[in-house]
Amino acid sequence: MHEHMLEYVKKTIAENGRPSAPFRDRFAHTLRVQKWAERLQAMEGGDLEVIQVAALFHDVGWDEHRPHEEVGAEITRAYLTAQGLYMDKLDAIVEAVAHHNHRDSPGPFRKETLIIQDADFLDEVGVLTLVWDSLGTALKPNPSYTAVYARAQRSLAELKSRAGWLRTPSGRKLYDEQVQVVAQCLKWLQYELGL
Ligand SMILES: [Fe+2]
Ligand SMILES: [Fe+2]
Repeated sequence: MHEHMLEYVKKTIAENGRPSAPFRDRFAHTLRVQKWAERLQAMEGGDLEVIQVAALFHDVGWDEHRPHEEVGAEITRAYLTAQGLYMDKLDAIVEAVAHHNHRDSPGPFRKETLIIQDADFLDEVGVLTLVWDSLGTALKPNPSYTAVYARAQRSLAELKSRAGWLRTPSGRKLYDEQVQVVAQCLKWLQYELGL
């Protein structure tokens, strides 16, 4: 991974003005998605370089009036072309960035694109769901343990309802495991709180 590419993405994300929860760092999300994508590549195969670069660039674009994947794909193509990087893999990288949110679209997409879709979806599912819900609750009026519990229960139901969105067998397996972690934690939390 080229050092200047990492710095470029970090700077572009910091400056693109996309709103987010105050505790959520989108560059940190990007690096976690890259980690999930590498795990999925080890299980599913696919071109590791395409996957690593696409994961790094997947959330680089933002525009209030246009789909963020489209903007990100343009930025990715322009940057890599100007730098003369990964030219033989450019189309595969740009496809993955351009379609990272299109879980409802049939494609057909390259395996690398399916892995980026799943990797993006896997982030903040699991223990991070509970961390997110705790921080989110703390920022609302009257935060409490039971308020966190109630909010996390809603998150769990939502996560379960989205299990069919995963596109690779390994993504589905990891997702189910992460959802189980949330379910187990909430079972114990319910017990500990005497609810
Ligand atoms: Fe995105
Ligand atoms: Fe993302």
